[in-house]
Amino acid sequence: MIEVRDLTKHYATAAGLRSLLPGRRGEVTRAVEGVSFTIGAGEVLGLVGESGSGKSTTGRLLVGLETPTAGSVSIDGTDSATARARDRKAFHRQVQMIFQDPYGALNPQHTVEDLVGRPLLYQGVRDRAAIATSVRTVLAEVGLSPPESYLSKHPHQLSGGQRQRVCIARAIILEPRFLVADEPVSMLDVSIKWEIVRLLKRLASDRGIAMLYITHDLATVGAVCDRLAIMYRGRIVETGPVEEVLAAPSDPYTCALIAAIPSADPDVIRVPPPAFVQAAG
Ligand SMILES: Nc1ncnc2c1ncn2[C@@H]1O[C@H](COP(=O)(O)OP(=O)(O)OP(=O)(O)O)[C@@H](O)[C@H]1O
Ligand SMILES: [Mg+2]
Repeated sequence: MIEVRDLTKHYATAAGLRSLLPGRRGEVTRAVEGVSFTIGAGEVLGLVGESGSGKSTTGRLLVGLETPTAGSVSIDGTDSATARARDRKAFHRQVQMIFQDPYGALNPQHTVEDLVGRPLLYQGVRDRAAIATSVRTVLAEVGLSPPESYLSKHPHQLSGGQRQRVCIARAIILEPRFLVADEPVSMLDVSIKWEIVRLLKRLASDRGIAMLYITHDLATVGAVCDRLAIMYRGRIVETGPVEEVLAAPSDPYTCALIAAIPSADPDVIRVPPPAFVQAAG
């Protein structure tokens, strides 16, 4: 349903005055380099990789927050750049994103009811009663119930987990086909982390949403992802069903990532495999 082909994003690194330095002109950062994958309806693809490997850039490209240097993204067979140019509102009904920092993503002056209902207003829905009903329905669906006790609250009156639930409610109120979740639980307490991860998994399968779940650690992927794509320095180095990749990684970088998952057994000392240490220089 989501088809990404040869997606590439280069940033001009030596911009402005720095480009005048000897040898710096035309320098580029290859954030994303020829990335291809597909995600089916109701499927969660985990995009995993170290910091700076290009995960967030890929996510931003997919939701149209950045323009690719090359390559294409199509949603249900329609090229997303064309769809966005033709009808921006219709595109945003289809594609939504959830960010790492739920506090930064919410306007502190608005109430939960405003925050969650706003996308409907932006889409031109004028029926206040219909908006109020939808807001209550999605709040209950993301676990903020009874919804009435949250409607008039402001973001600072909520816990981190509750704020992330508000962000999720706001993302699903337009019934998107595709959702990008960029490190949605990395700022949350371990106890809430698992609840949010399970919520995302449930929403993807119940609503048939194709989801890209971006993370830098492999600990949560088993609970949410169907397949994994391992990203390293802008490229996808390995893909496959989550159990297969975790049980028998074929790429040295994936082995090193798996070695970094903390173990509950204090006697287990994990070291990165020598092949990766060599490859990384
Ligand atoms: N707007 C930008 N301008 C220039 N370079 C950028 C820009 N955004 C990202 N980059 C560079 O692109 C590369 C990939 O960044 P990206 O944020 O996609 O990594 P990431 O995998 O999400 O990392 P993290 O796990 O730390 O969030 C990095 O080298 C980064 O410095
Ligand atoms: Mg990132």
